[in-house]
Amino acid sequence: MKNIRVIFEPEKIQVEVPSGSKIISAIEKSGIYFELPCGEKGICGKCGVKVIEGAPPPNETEKKLLGEKVKDGWRLACQSRINRDSTIFLENRAASYHKILTSKTLHGILRKPQIKKKLINVEKITLENPVSLQEHIARHLGVGIEKVSPFILKDVVDYNGAAETVVFHNGDPLAVEKGDTTSHCYGIGFDLGTTTMVLTVFDLIECKELISVVRPNPQIKFGDDIISRIDFSLRDDGLEVLHRIIVDEINRMIDEAAKVSGIENHHIYQFVLSGNTVMEQIFLNLPLNSLSKIPFNPLMKGPVEISAFRAGIHINPEGIIFVFPVLGGFVGGDTAGLILTTGIHKSEGIQLGIDIGTNGEIVIGNKNGIIAASTAAGPAFEGGRITFGMRAQTGALERCWCEEGEIHWQTIGGNSLKGFCGSGLVDLIAVLRRSGIIDEAGRFQENSDSVFSHMLKNKNNGFVFVLEPEKNNSVYLTQKDIREFQAAKAAIRSGIEILIKKAGVDPKDIEKIYLAGALGNFVNIENIKNLGMLPGFPTERIIPSGNTSLASSLLFLCNSELRKDIAEIIKKTRVIELSLYPEFQEVFTDSLFF
Ligand code: FES
Repeated sequence: MKNIRVIFEPEKIQVEVPSGSKIISAIEKSGIYFELPCGEKGICGKCGVKVIEGAPPPNETEKKLLGEKVKDGWRLACQSRINRDSTIFLENRAASYHKILTSKTLHGILRKPQIKKKLINVEKITLENPVSLQEHIARHLGVGIEKVSPFILKDVVDYNGAAETVVFHNGDPLAVEKGDTTSHCYGIGFDLGTTTMVLTVFDLIECKELISVVRPNPQIKFGDDIISRIDFSLRDDGLEVLHRIIVDEINRMIDEAAKVSGIENHHIYQFVLSGNTVMEQIFLNLPLNSLSKIPFNPLMKGPVEISAFRAGIHINPEGIIFVFPVLGGFVGGDTAGLILTTGIHKSEGIQLGIDIGTNGEIVIGNKNGIIAASTAAGPAFEGGRITFGMRAQTGALERCWCEEGEIHWQTIGGNSLKGFCGSGLVDLIAVLRRSGIIDEAGRFQENSDSVFSHMLKNKNNGFVFVLEPEKNNSVYLTQKDIREFQAAKAAIRSGIEILIKKAGVDPKDIEKIYLAGALGNFVNIENIKNLGMLPGFPTERIIPSGNTSLASSLLFLCNSELRKDIAEIIKKTRVIELSLYPEFQEVFTDSLFF
C-alpha cells in the first residue's frame, strides 16, 4: 500500500502513513497530543478536525455528528480515512498542562521527603588502597557494605576520586550519580482515575510543584466504568492490553512533563500512584478475576513498593514506585488518600468524606474507626455519557445561573460554549429544575410556564434544551443526559445514606463533610443539595477538598512519616459492599428524584 503525506497545521508537523489510514493514526504518529473523549466510538463528535486539503467524503456518522460543518471540510479524526496527501488543521487540541490547586493542601507540609541526596568526596582507589568502590561508599556513609548494592554503582564505573552524589530512599542508598547532582531531585504524584489521569512533578529540594499534566484515561475505549474494564480484562489478553496502554500513556505523560519543565527523567526517583482498586491492579498487571464476582475481593491489600525498572516506568530505573493501599473491595488507594489528606483517621468528631468521580467513594468515621464503600456513579460528573459533556477545559460551561428571567453562564477561559463539565451540568440542571422545565422525576415539561420554554426544542423525536437557540450548532442538554445525571447523583446519595445508617450516626452529629474530586472544588454546593445529591447538611460544614487522591500522593512524597498514617488507615478502615444491602435498591430509586 502506498504511503501518503499528512501535514498538521498550525505546527506544520509532517508525517507519512499508509493510504487509507484513519486521521487519528496520523495524529498519533506525529506525537501531537489529541483527545478522544468517547474512545474512538464515534458517538461524542468531539474529535473534529478541519481537513484543508485532501478531505475524503464524510460518512454517515460524521454527517450526523458534525452537521453543516462537513461542508467546510470538518471530519472526525476517529472515523475518517485519508487516501491522498492532506493538510489538516487541529483546532481542538486540548490544553494538557494545568496548574492544579495543591498549594492550599500542601500548606504547612512537613518536609521529610523520602528521597534525599548527599554529596560525598571519596578518596581515589590506588594500588596501596585497593578496596572496591562498594566498600568505599559504604565506609564513607558509615553503613554496612550490604546496604550498598553494587548495581547502584553502574553510573560511576570509571570512578576517579571526584565528588559523587548518593541518592537515598528513606535512609538507604538507592543510586550513586557522577558529580554533584544534589540540586536535581524530583518525584511524581499520580492520580489514576477511571476517566481522568493527573500527573504532577514535584521538586523535592524546593518542595514545590513544577508542572501538572492532565489526560483522559486511554482505557475508555474498552469501557467507561470499572465493570466494563473488569469484563475486558477477563478476555484472553485483555489484562495485558489494559496494562500496556496505561503504562505507555503514563510514560508519555512523564516524558512530556520532563521535557516541558526541563528536567531529566533519571533525576526522578519516586513515583507515587493512587487510584481505585481496579485501576491500581491493572497498573500492576494483577488479574481482576476475584473482583468480577461476589464477594468482590481484591488480589492486593496494603501498599506496594517496586522498582521503576520492574514497573517499566520512565523514571530512574532504580527509582521507587509506590502504590497506595487497597482498603478492600473496590475501595482503593484513592480512598486511603482521601482519609490521609483530610485526616479523618485522627479526628475526634465524626467526619464524612465523599470523593465524586466515576467510581465514587464514601467514608465515615473518626480516630476510633472508619467505614468505607464505593458506589458506581459513572462518568457523568467528568463529562462522560453526556451528549455535550467534556472535561473542565477551555470552552466548558462551568457556572450557570438565572437572573431576571434569563439564563446566564460562564465558560472556562471565557471562550465560546463547547459543552458542559461537571460543575456546569449541576448548575444547568438546578436552574432548569427551579424554573419548572424539568419536573421532580427529571422529565422535560413541554407545557410548563417556565421562562425558558422557548429553549426546549424537538430533536430526533425527543426534547432537548438548547442553550443558544439562535445558533445553528448550539450545545444542548438531552433527556438522556438528565437520566445519566440522576443515576450518578443517586449512586452518591444512596451510598451516603447507607453508610450513615451503618455507622449508627445522626447526620446532625457529622461535624465536617469533605467533598473531594474534580467536581468538589468548583461545584455550587447549594445546587447539589437542592438536586438531592447530599442530605441537608449545613452548608458551612461542607468543605470542598479538591483532588485528594493526587494531593495524598504529593504529601507522601514530601513526608516519610505518613507511612505510619497509612498503616493506621488500613487498620482502622472497614469496607462494606453497598450492593449487598437489601435496602440499597430502594434508597437508590428514591434518590433518583429531584
Ligand atoms: S467521535 Fe471520535 S472520539 Fe468520539
